[in-house]
Amino acid sequence: MHADNPPVAVYEDTVIRQFALMAVVWGVVGMLVGVLIASQLAWPEMNFGIPWLSYGRLRPLHTNAVIFAFGGCALMATSFHVVQRTCQVPLFAPKLASFVFWGWQAVIVAAALSLPMGYTSGKEYAELEWPIDILITLVWVAYAVVFFGTIGMRKVRHIYVANWFYGAFIIAVALLHIVNSAAIPAGWMKSYSAYAGVQDAMVQWWYGHNAVGFFLTAGFLGMMYYYIPKQAGRPVYSYRLSIVHFWALIFTYMWAGPHHLHYTALPDWTQSIGMVFSLILLAPSWGGMINGVMTLSGAWDKLRTDPILRFLIVALSFYGMATFEGPMMSIKTVNALSHYTDWTVGHVHAGALGWVGLISMGSLYYLIPRMYGRTEMHSVPAIELHFWMATVGIVLYIAAMWIAGVMQGLMWRAVNPDGTLTYTFVESVKATFPYYVVRLVGGLLYLGGMLVMAWNVWMTVGFGRSVNAVIPQPVAAHA
Ligand code: HEM
Ligand code: HEM
Repeated sequence: MHADNPPVAVYEDTVIRQFALMAVVWGVVGMLVGVLIASQLAWPEMNFGIPWLSYGRLRPLHTNAVIFAFGGCALMATSFHVVQRTCQVPLFAPKLASFVFWGWQAVIVAAALSLPMGYTSGKEYAELEWPIDILITLVWVAYAVVFFGTIGMRKVRHIYVANWFYGAFIIAVALLHIVNSAAIPAGWMKSYSAYAGVQDAMVQWWYGHNAVGFFLTAGFLGMMYYYIPKQAGRPVYSYRLSIVHFWALIFTYMWAGPHHLHYTALPDWTQSIGMVFSLILLAPSWGGMINGVMTLSGAWDKLRTDPILRFLIVALSFYGMATFEGPMMSIKTVNALSHYTDWTVGHVHAGALGWVGLISMGSLYYLIPRMYGRTEMHSVPAIELHFWMATVGIVLYIAAMWIAGVMQGLMWRAVNPDGTLTYTFVESVKATFPYYVVRLVGGLLYLGGMLVMAWNVWMTVGFGRSVNAVIPQPVAAHA
């Protein structure tokens, strides 16, 4: 080595590798629990009489594992990757970034133990008890310091739009978590919400809907704005549209929560505000989807040969589907039919499996080989196989739930000429059975695809080696 060579600056990629691998691990775990509870809905004896495996305890374990463990690790891996590459600096405070990784894994393990044991605050998507909530707050503040610290040190004047979405996700989730989890402890694993009655419901669904808007949407749009242009080798279709998309989306989401509380004790005008903002939300959602899809202009042929690009683009079509369906379901008269039925569960999984799942998988397929000094995954045909298993799985899942949901809604409201109900509740449960079996088959296919991915990642990592990429240096200006 020559003494006059400047030291080579590299990115902080260790934490990205850790989060990326754990996203795959938690994806398998969370989906396995999803498959188990799907089988319990068809055959209740699948809980084997063990309280730890009962449906009521495993359902929140499933939602927490897929949203916060699988989705959370994918978001943290990609945000740390994107922020360094677009700011051209290594992570701010790498030791703190390592704390974010280990702290987040501790939160996940605490959830995986406490939920099956029956500890819960009873708030959907915020079930974890107060000591775990405090740990989440500490980890999240550290995450914000690392992310915004890196932006603060950037060598590129401009802040790329993907970082705006990741940044909004980080700030909004901090706000939602602190407000909704406010509680009075009544023992180590027991607490009472700081709110009561209808206020408690309103705060909960302000949180719940924005968990969808910011955890399950904004951060993943950050992935869309970085990985689709990268994989397609094309610039974002419209940078101007991306800015309008950003401000319109984050402003509108905040008001839509009451659509979860139609026909409840919530004042009627509040429900109407929720409905109107949900309808408006269609526009920014589709604007963003169109921006992502149109990035492929002139490169459509790549869809035929590139399965990673297919993951990313098909994710956007499911995003479009879920964000069309959501505004429709928020219309009060439609919600009168859909609420309490499996239609909601179908909508959830069009977004969760189709959008969140596929965009994460596509981004991880781009990211992982590069983190291990390889140009592509160990097996491209295995990515292709995963794509088809996942897509067929999603279609079976959501089609079964749509049919089951509309059928349930219609059976529950059917009345005889004398005003009595045509069907008993249990008749609707019986009629739903075949659809629960089809959903289980869809879930098994989706989980199978995830196992193919786990094998492919294992082989890629096993034959690769950890490499921290070199940071490009600005070209020195000539005197
Ligand atoms: C193999 C894949 C999966 C299967 C088989 C599966 C199955 C299930 C089942 C059976 C339920 C309970 C439905 C009910 O109570 O009637 C559920 C709920 C839920 N799942 Fe999944 N799931 C899978 C993947 C995912 C993924 C990847 C996500 C998110 C990224 C997700 C998010 C959710 C959410 C948010 C709920 C709660 C829905 C609600 O309250 O309406 N699931 N899932
Ligand atoms: C424009 C966008 C969207 C709107 C207006 C919207 C609207 C709705 C509505 C009206 C419901 C039913 C509420 C009820 O009857 O209880 C619902 C449920 C839900 N949606 Fe969406 N949705 C949108 C997009 C999405 C996306 C993209 C995802 C997932 C990534 C998603 C995840 C969920 C979840 C998890 C629930 C179930 C909440 C629960 O009851 O536990 N939504 N949404």
